[in-house]
Amino acid sequence: MTASGTFGYGTEYEGLVDIQRLGAIVCKGIFMKPREGNPQPRVAETASGMLNAIGLQGIGVEALIKDKAPVWAEWKVPVIVNIAGETVEEYASLARILDGVPGVSGLEVNISCPNVKSGGAEFGVRPESAAEVTAAVRKMTSLPVLVKLTPNVTDIVSIAAAVAEAGADAITLINTLKGMAIDIKKRKPVLGNVTGGLSGPAIKPVALYMVYRVAGAVKIPVIGCGGIATVYDALEFIMAGASAVEVGTSSFTNPRTTVEVLEGIEKFLADQKVDGITDLVGIARPG
Ligand SMILES: Cc1cc2nc3c(=O)[nH]c(=O)nc-3n(C[C@H](O)[C@H](O)[C@H](O)COP(=O)(O)O)c2cc1C
Repeated sequence: MTASGTFGYGTEYEGLVDIQRLGAIVCKGIFMKPREGNPQPRVAETASGMLNAIGLQGIGVEALIKDKAPVWAEWKVPVIVNIAGETVEEYASLARILDGVPGVSGLEVNISCPNVKSGGAEFGVRPESAAEVTAAVRKMTSLPVLVKLTPNVTDIVSIAAAVAEAGADAITLINTLKGMAIDIKKRKPVLGNVTGGLSGPAIKPVALYMVYRVAGAVKIPVIGCGGIATVYDALEFIMAGASAVEVGTSSFTNPRTTVEVLEGIEKFLADQKVDGITDLVGIARPG
């Protein structure tokens, strides 16, 4: 699968890779209304990764349904819409509006968004608010609901358990880790937003650890994401307990990463004489 925000609406990559071969495309996060996003600069390169503070720029759900969904409806590859809100009601409305729209095969709920009504802490940092958003979305849709967790928490397992209990069909983890960079010549932060989210190979061990912890604690499938650049990275996540993986930042350095990971998995299974990927899920877990 593709990771939200790193593969546009899928259409941008059509000429670069055979997107129809992918397991699923997760599109850029969508709010109810179009958003401009944060001031420039919005990205900065770091050692083995990047910082971004895009600020969830997007076209809004109306334009997505009018312009993007009809294209997706013609595709073989399922498209999962990543949704984001500033209130629980906004998440619920998005789920209601997108339910039954041809071309939309599932929802991935990004709970790394500030809860405007209760002081701005992200929904995903407390089990109660994470569960509240999940339950509100669940109530409004019959589509598969993936809930995407933030790693910027003390106890990822308690959040994952709350989300599973509230009706999520699967858990995606991880979103970006909080970080920043400073331009010492200008004596100020590099990003216009001051802080941003760290992604890319630098975060892989953290993501792998969280997938490992959560896969051992919940019964629903876990989708691993964070720093996957090669088939070997993807296999590590699967052996840690992920049932599927998403490729994010690596698509920027090599737009073919998704398909190369897919082909690499197929080759690995054939070489190792393994019948299917499910035989490898969690195989490296001790005990
Ligand atoms: C430029 C950029 C934009 C992103 N936008 C979103 C988004 O809209 N919604 C979301 O849930 N995650 C978003 N993410 C997070 C990624 O989907 C992914 O969880 C994270 O980058 C870790 O995976 P990676 O190291 O493979 O990139 C974004 C990441 C980047 C780099």
